[in-house]
Amino acid sequence: MAKIYPSLISSDILNLQNEIKLLEPYCEGYHIDIMDNHFVPNLTWGQMFVDEIDRVTAKPLWVHLMVDNPEYWVKILSLNANSILTFHFESTQKIKTISDRIKKKNMIPSIAINPKTPVEKIFPFLDIIHHVVVMSVEPGFSGQSFIKEVVDKVDTIVSYVQMRGLKCDVAMDGGIDEGNISMLAQKGVQDFAVGSGIFSKPDKIKALKKLYELVG
Ligand code: DX5
Ligand code: ZN
Repeated sequence: MAKIYPSLISSDILNLQNEIKLLEPYCEGYHIDIMDNHFVPNLTWGQMFVDEIDRVTAKPLWVHLMVDNPEYWVKILSLNANSILTFHFESTQKIKTISDRIKKKNMIPSIAINPKTPVEKIFPFLDIIHHVVVMSVEPGFSGQSFIKEVVDKVDTIVSYVQMRGLKCDVAMDGGIDEGNISMLAQKGVQDFAVGSGIFSKPDKIKALKKLYELVG
């Protein structure tokens, strides 16, 4: 069953608590982009902000670290049970160490790959990390167009995982909307981060419900 996480970077930020409460009954949890202005050319939220979001919702968070030093962020973040903590393959050499630390904090480790990173690079880690995020835009900003060339990566991961009898959820982030979500779900994407596909619509609840219908 596919899960949709509204990406809060696209929300009405000064009205964030109301935005969270509005969508809470209808979504799986929330996607939170942490950007450090080094790994990506944009800056978002720090620990205090994420802790506050964690406090106002009982839903799990899916925190996406777009930072140079993911180890530091793993150390300082403690989130609701079943929360997902995604770090980038491109941001560290210490993938196993970071994954172990995330597990120790009862969160789900997750690894993201940029559109230009070959998917095979993450294969050696799929026996310890069971959540992979295929980035479908260059990380850094919401509202970008979906890069359709990355869709093949989903097929590649799904067949690799099936062949080896591994367990791995495939997630996607960037440019997801009513026009592509159904095809992606059919290919095996389970977790979707959706920013403008929800928050740029006049009726956000309706937009979210429609996306769920399409992956139904
Ligand atoms: C991009 C972020 C995405 C973004 C999604 O760097 O990681 O999570 O907020 O926004 P949309 O759905 O508008 O592409
Ligand atoms: Zn993201």
